[in-house]
Amino acid sequence: MAELTVRDATDEDIERVEVLVTDALDRAHSLRGGGALLETLGMGPGLTATTLARAICAPSTGGLVGCVAVLDDALVGVAVAATEASCLTLVGIHVARSLRRRQIGTALLTAVQDRAEAAGTRLEAVALPGDQTLKSLLEAAGYRARLLRLSVER
Ligand SMILES: CC(C)(COP(=O)(O)OP(=O)(O)OC[C@H]1O[C@@H](n2cnc3c(N)ncnc32)[C@H](O)[C@@H]1OP(=O)(O)O)[C@@H](O)C(=O)NCCC(=O)NCCS
Repeated sequence: MAELTVRDATDEDIERVEVLVTDALDRAHSLRGGGALLETLGMGPGLTATTLARAICAPSTGGLVGCVAVLDDALVGVAVAATEASCLTLVGIHVARSLRRRQIGTALLTAVQDRAEAAGTRLEAVALPGDQTLKSLLEAAGYRARLLRLSVER
């Protein structure tokens, strides 16, 4: 039986995290508000999957918390949260397409919640309006939308 573990991302994960981040960035760019979400990460229009994967895997330098899910030896999911003054904010979570609906996203969310608790703060999450899978994951875990931020499309 395959064993799932979730742990902090490290330098050795960069290449495998980049594969997942490439897919997540493609999806973020295809959704309304994706550019603004990436700015939340402090990353502008020139952001590449390599840059983001490096930031996730060396989180202490950028105020980020990065966690990876490993199933046997395969890296199958990644979550990233940003440290803010009043909370830890989950800004991205992504599971390999062929392995969804197996509670891997939930395990990553729980790990990030644990990191927030250990730091004595609470976890909040942001989601793009069209990111239904992420909203479903968060709602299944008891999260509810508290604020919708709207602007004129440019
Ligand atoms: C969101 C995501 C991480 C969820 O990962 P996952 O491992 O499939 O989630 P889980 O198996 O832990 O799901 C837990 C619960 O969330 C809900 N849920 C998750 N995905 C769902 C979906 N596609 N439809 C409906 N409900 C869903 C369900 O209640 C599910 O429980 P169930 O399977 O027992 O019904 C995954 O769908 C993903 O990577 N999506 C792409 C997100 C992304 O890249 N966004 C880009 C911007 S960051």
